[in-house]
Amino acid sequence: MKLSPAEFQNMKMDKPIAMLTAYTTPVAKCLEEAGIPIILVGDTVGMVEMGFNSTQSVTLDHIKYHIGAVRRGAPNTHIIGDLPYKSDSDRKHALKNAKQLLEAGTDSVKLEGPKYDIIKHLVENNIPVVGHTGLTPQTAESFKQVGKKKVEADRILKEAKKVEEAGAFLIVLEHIPHELGKKITTNLSIPTIGIGAGSECDGQVLVINDAIGLGNKWPPFSKQYAHVNKTILSAAKEYKNEVESGAF
Ligand code: KIV
Repeated sequence: MKLSPAEFQNMKMDKPIAMLTAYTTPVAKCLEEAGIPIILVGDTVGMVEMGFNSTQSVTLDHIKYHIGAVRRGAPNTHIIGDLPYKSDSDRKHALKNAKQLLEAGTDSVKLEGPKYDIIKHLVENNIPVVGHTGLTPQTAESFKQVGKKKVEADRILKEAKKVEEAGAFLIVLEHIPHELGKKITTNLSIPTIGIGAGSECDGQVLVINDAIGLGNKWPPFSKQYAHVNKTILSAAKEYKNEVESGAF
């Protein structure tokens, strides 16, 4: 059964939230069958599935296409859709674009950074919003951990609080020191979802390709629960040998 933003908020004190990204129907189907309660159609799709070097190349049409595919695979799971780079740069465009993501099949939208007035505007227009702070890939200069220095940690904590005040119902904390993840988690009343932010967040998210070992490089904080790359490689080699030898 699809969970609502209020139900996720209630999970803060109750049960850790397991989120994964998905971009395709068969993967979304597996996640729903596994009981994953929330799927993110993230703009990481650009890097892990489309061969781009940055999430900045992902467009609204790309995300809408993947939301449709994921919704068809997971009709009963809460889906978050990422607002791509620059699609949320002002209130009017953010609202128009967020509505398109909802029409494509998402239940909520995620946006990166301290865009408090935009979050507020979307929430006032009945669009559930997920915030994202710490490392924000759409605008980051590198993928290194952020928040090690006190001034930066203070800035990230303040940003998380203001994202909550603006009305977000969840917030993603990316690649920050574990202590900071814990501090933000205890200071906020909405659930925090960490990715490289320590085990004391209220939930965790992994990029599905990292989690299943599909690709060839993983961020330092991810964990491979499977090695799909190796499986594809070995199947393709076996197939090639069988075709070339006439066995298939
Ligand atoms: O786009 C994405 O997949 C994300 C995760 C890294 C949280 O934002």
